This record gives sequence, C-alpha cells and structure tokens, in this order.
Amino acid sequence: MIQKLQDVGELALQQIKFSQDLESLEKVRISILGKKGALSEVLKGVGAIPASDRPQIGGMANEWKKRIEESLESRKQQLEQIWLAQKVQTERIDITAPSRCLHRGSLHLVTQTTQRIIQILSRIGFDVTLGPEVETDYFNFEAVNIQADHPARDMQDTFFLSPGIVLRTHTSSVQMRAMRAQKAPIRILCPGAVYRCDNDATHSPMFHQIEGLWVDRGVRMSDLKGTLLYWAKELFGSSTQIRFRPSYFPFVEPGAEVDVSCFQCRVKVSPLCRVCKGSGWLEVLGAGMVHPRLFEMAGYSQDDEVRGFAFGVGVERIAMLLYQVPDLRLLYQGDLRFLSQFK
Ligand code: DAH
Repeated sequence: MIQKLQDVGELALQQIKFSQDLESLEKVRISILGKKGALSEVLKGVGAIPASDRPQIGGMANEWKKRIEESLESRKQQLEQIWLAQKVQTERIDITAPSRCLHRGSLHLVTQTTQRIIQILSRIGFDVTLGPEVETDYFNFEAVNIQADHPARDMQDTFFLSPGIVLRTHTSSVQMRAMRAQKAPIRILCPGAVYRCDNDATHSPMFHQIEGLWVDRGVRMSDLKGTLLYWAKELFGSSTQIRFRPSYFPFVEPGAEVDVSCFQCRVKVSPLCRVCKGSGWLEVLGAGMVHPRLFEMAGYSQDDEVRGFAFGVGVERIAMLLYQVPDLRLLYQGDLRFLSQFK
C-alpha cells in the first residue's frame, strides 16, 4: 500500500511537471484527485489493511495529497503566465495606428423635407396626425366626395388590394377620419406615403404627401392664403410670392392650384431658368375650402359656422425643386453618392 501510494504520487508529480497547458493540467488533476482518480482508487484498499496501520497510511495519503495540490497550483500559475505572455505577443495593439473613419448616416432627403415642412407649420399650431396607408374605398374616395364614376378611381390609377380596400391614393383620406374623431377646432398635418399606378421621371408608384386641414368657426379663404404665404416664405425665402389658380378637387369648393414665385430667378424672371423654365412660377400644391358636403358627412350641423381649408403637398416635388433634383427615381435608388450630398 505504501509502495502504491508512492508510485501514484511520483507519477502524478511527473505528469504535472510535463503538462503543457491549463487544459491538460486540469485533466491531470481530475485523473489523480477526482472521485475516480488514482489516489482515491489506492485509498479504497484501506479497508483491507490492519486497523493499527491505518493512521500511518492515512497520514501518508494526506501528505501526498498536499504535495500534489501544491504542485498543481504552482504549475497552474506558471502556465497562466506563459498563456498571458503569448497573448500579449500575438494580440499586440498598436495604439499609434490611425483610427478607422466612421461614416455618419443622415436622414433621407424625403424625410428631411417632410420634417422641414412640418416644422414650419407646427410653429403656427399644426399638429401631426397619421392615417393608414391601407385604406378603405370609403375614406379614400367617398368621404372626400369622389363619386363612384370619378376617373381617379380607375384601375389605372388606384392599387386595389381587395374589393373596397385600396392603397391610399392621397393623404386627403385622413380628412374625414380627423373630422369624425374630433370636433372643431382641428389643425392637423398628415404626412405619409401614397400610391398610384404611375412610373416615370416625375412619377413614382409610391410617393409622399402632406395633407393640411384647418377647421374652425369662421375660417376663411384669406386664412388659407395667409397660411400658405407664410409657409412659402419660410421654405423658399422671404421674398417669395404665391398665386392661386382656380382648379377643381371634389373635396374643396372653391379649389385652387397654388404656385410660388421662382426662388431661382428671384429678381428678374430669366427665360433660361432651369427651375421654373422661364415662367417665373412653380406649382407646389392643391388647396381649397372644405366642401360643405364633407361637413355634412362628418355630422357637423349646418348652422354652427364651422368652415375649413385643406391643402395637399407632394414632398418629392418640393425636395426636387429645392435641391434641383432632375429625376424622381434618384430619390429611391439608395445610391449613397447621391444621398450623402444632403447631410
Ligand atoms: N389630394 C390631392 C391630390 O392628391 C391634393 C389636394 C388638392 C389636397 C386640394 C387638398 C386639396 O387638400 O384641397 O392630388
């Protein structure tokens, strides 16, 4: 038994000495001191020796255990140091190396333009309200007085998802939702994507609009003009003028197309101006006084003197004018050479 203990102990010390890394050292530890390790195996034989010899064997066994543990610990420290030294060698960091350039992103030009328009109008009390892009035929058409036989409903213009459900063709769809959801005064902007079956240099099947709606007692056409003139001066420059051309939209009466004076040839209209093509004016939005029919459908009483105006502006068109973008498709191609110009 004594001999066996000696053999196991000496072999263990050899194995510890020659283990080359922390992993194999741990394996050695388990193979000696573990539950089924060599030392435990030897000690299982203690029962078979005379009781008088047992204290001596027990003492020896403890001594070997202690020696082995000490040896394991010191080898472990050595191996840890070797490991660290190797790591420092192979993973050296050059703190003098120039840093990598971080590219900062920026908001898309359409988002920037949307935010600019909203910012200007929020200063005079407009709040943002959102409506769904997947819209019912009712809110997109009927509730804004677009009759069943109106050409705008034609399959060629509208994306129908299922009978009675469309991708909204304009943000005017939010007008009736807003008038049903709240009573006057209403002063909202509804930005968002709209969809039409159209695709060329100036049309895209998806584009963005912002709808404005102001409903209150005694709102007049002069309020519409004042609001849009303020907006145009803030967006295009303080000398900007606006003009209204009579036009027809089913949900307003009277309705108008609104032009702003060209911000490029400000002083004298140039026949060569690339922005206004020599006309001196840029068409920017549609507007008008909310049609009485809409108040009726929204359940407003005729005699409470509530009136309103609405306008709808195309965001891409404004962005293209402001930054002289020649082709609408540039806005959707995700080409960073184009986009990063507008940081
Ligand atoms: N919804 C119209 C369109 O998409 C734009 C428009 C015109 C909105 C006149 C209005 C408006 O609110 O009064 O072409």
